[in-house]
Amino acid sequence: MRIGFLQLRPKFGAVKQNVRKAVTLLGKVSDATIVLPELFNTGYLFKNKEELASLAEPVPRGYTTQEMKKIAKKRNLNLVFGIAQKANKKFYNSAVFVNPRGKVEVYQKVHLFDREKLFFTRGKAFKTVSTDEAKLGIMVCFDWIFPEVARILTLNGAKILCHPSNLVLPYAQDAMKTRCIENRVFAVTANRIGTERRGTITLTFTGGSQIVAPDGTVLASAGDRSESLRVVDIDVEEASNKSLTVNNDIIEDRFPSLYSRIARKSK
Ligand code: ACM
Repeated sequence: MRIGFLQLRPKFGAVKQNVRKAVTLLGKVSDATIVLPELFNTGYLFKNKEELASLAEPVPRGYTTQEMKKIAKKRNLNLVFGIAQKANKKFYNSAVFVNPRGKVEVYQKVHLFDREKLFFTRGKAFKTVSTDEAKLGIMVCFDWIFPEVARILTLNGAKILCHPSNLVLPYAQDAMKTRCIENRVFAVTANRIGTERRGTITLTFTGGSQIVAPDGTVLASAGDRSESLRVVDIDVEEASNKSLTVNNDIIEDRFPSLYSRIARKSK
């Protein structure tokens, strides 16, 4: 199975330009599952909710999803990409999945980061989607800091964590190696690069997109300077084997009855 990332430098607000560039780059690959960054079509730093409202799109009818469906069909791709979604007068920081046959699924980011909380509504459920080759678990950017997300996706059958991102903290990529090791799954983190200056706020995104194997090995990675498309061949069945030693299976060895505190919100 072929999996990869497309690391991009979106221009804030230039949706058509951002989508056209992604589609052109995706035209260079075929027969693969490719992850793109969070909010790859709009950019990240919305000044206010009105600005977000003007750039958010419905799914599946919106421009971005329709264009991505076309290239997915043309190049036989499964795609996971981040966009601002408009639904029922609310806005979600969503990851959309499309497959070559026109299937569309959506994950709405559960763990909102910093100012995202001012504009976006959080999602209420985690999401796995099936391709012909493997089940994918979808998480968006800051979901990485909650190990429960990767774990629940793994328990729901995900073999590959697909992780559209706009990472700004320096240690997220390292943490994703741990998410892979502790769940024995693959992960594709597709980050963006560049700096956004909007009003008084400046953010620099860390790039470093990566494909990680169940043992934490980095199979491919990008720097923080250039847009980059990388695809690797994997044996996805490696993620079905949860045994660490002859005496340890990391899923079977858990004791959920000792962990019930984790499932409660109060202090
Ligand atoms: C983030 O969740 N975009 C850091």
